[in-house]
Amino acid sequence: MKVDLIIENAAQLVTCASGGKPKRGAAMTDVGIIENGALAISGGKIVAVGNTKEIAGNFQTENVIDAGNKVVCPAFVDPHTHVVFAGNRLNEFELKIKGADYLEILENGGGIISTVKQTREASLKSLIEQSRRRLDEMLACGTLTAEIKTGYGLDTATELKMLEAIFELDKTHPIDLIPTFLPAHAFPPEFKGREDEYVALICDEMLPEAKEIINYQSSITNYFADVFCEKNAFNLEQSRRVLETAKRLGFGLKAHVDEFTNLGCARLAIELGATSIDHLDATSDEEIALLAASQTIGIVTPTVNFNFGSAHFADARKMIDKHCAIAVSTDYNPGSAPCPSQPLAMAIACRYQKLLPSEAFNAATINAAFAVGLGDKIGSLEVGKSADILILDTNDYRQTAYEFGANFIETIIKTGKIITR
Ligand code: NIG
Ligand code: FE
Repeated sequence: MKVDLIIENAAQLVTCASGGKPKRGAAMTDVGIIENGALAISGGKIVAVGNTKEIAGNFQTENVIDAGNKVVCPAFVDPHTHVVFAGNRLNEFELKIKGADYLEILENGGGIISTVKQTREASLKSLIEQSRRRLDEMLACGTLTAEIKTGYGLDTATELKMLEAIFELDKTHPIDLIPTFLPAHAFPPEFKGREDEYVALICDEMLPEAKEIINYQSSITNYFADVFCEKNAFNLEQSRRVLETAKRLGFGLKAHVDEFTNLGCARLAIELGATSIDHLDATSDEEIALLAASQTIGIVTPTVNFNFGSAHFADARKMIDKHCAIAVSTDYNPGSAPCPSQPLAMAIACRYQKLLPSEAFNAATINAAFAVGLGDKIGSLEVGKSADILILDTNDYRQTAYEFGANFIETIIKTGKIITR
C-alpha cells in the first residue's frame, strides 16, 4: 500500500497506546515502546504502527524520515492554560519573591484583576498578537494541542473578545485550540458587595451568549466551561450555579478545585460529570476515591507550586496509586505559572510529585488528550489517530524529564505535515 510518509528506524517509538481509555494505576508506567519502530501516515492520520521491518515490508512511499537513534512520540497536549491575556505581572513576581501571598494580592485588586484591567484595554488584534507569541513558545516545546480559558475579561464584551481571540488563533496557529469559557475566574471590582449579581450575569447572559457564538464556529465541536472555586473567588453554591447552567447549555465541564482551599467542589464537579478537575492541591482522600471511581480526569499543575517556590504539591503519586486518571498541564498564565513547557511541567512532576518519567509522559500526552475530550483523536501513536508527532534528538524518552530546561525536539509533524525540522 502507498502512503504519504513513513518514519522508520526509531530507537524508541513511544506510542502511549491506551486502547481507547485513559491510563490508570500501573498502566501509567507503560509508554508502549516499540524498539526499532516505524509508522506509516496517510491523509494526516496514522495508518500503521510497528517495527521497521514490518512497516517497510507492507507500505511504500516517496517520503521517508530516518529516525535512527532518535525517539518518535506523540506531540504533547496541554490540557489547562490561560494563554490569552494582555500584559504581564512582573511587579507581582517581585512582590511574591518578597513574601506576598497570591490570594492576598488578589483581594487587594492585583493578581487576576490586574490582568483583567490590561486585557479589557487591549484591542482584539493586540490580544491575538501577544498570545500568538506564547503559542509559538509552546509549539517549540512540543505542544500541538492546547486548551485555553477566558477569564481575564469578567464582563460580557471582554469575555467574548477573548473567545474571538481563541477562535482566530485556532485558525491561524499550528497548535489546535480548545476553548474554555471562564467568566467565573474572579469577581470583577465593579461587582464588589454584589457577587451574586455577577453569578446571575454569568448564568443569564454570559454563558448563553458564549454558547451562541461558539455555535457559529462550525469547526468547534469540543468546548468547556470552568469555575475557580476558592476563597476570595467563587464559593461552592456559586460554583454549582455556574456549572449546572453550563451543563444545561451543553458545555463540557472543568473546575479549578482545591488550589489553596478545599471548598468541596471536587465532589460537585465529579457528580456533574466534569471532564476534568484541576489543581487538586488540597483534595481529601475521600475525594481522591470519588475521582478514581469516575470518568473525570485529574489535572495537576506542578508549575504553579514551583512558581510560588512552595514545597507543597498536589499528591499526584497517591492519586495514581489510588487509580485516578491523572494528566499534567503547564497552566500557562501570567500570575501563577508563566510557563509554556510541558517537558518542564513533567520534570517538576517527577521531582516533587514523585512521578516516574513514564507516568509524566503519559500524563502529558494520552491522559491530557482525554482531559480535553479528545482521547479518541490525539495523544498517542495508534492507528486512526491524527499524525501529531515529535521526533526527539535523544534515544531514550526519559531524557525529556531528566534533563530539565533542555529542548530535544528535532522535528514536529502536525496532521502528517512536517512543520519544523
Ligand atoms: O490556574 N487559579 C486560578 N487561575 C489561574 C491563575 C490565574 C492568574 O493568576 O492569572 C491558575 O492558577
Ligand atoms: Fe488555571
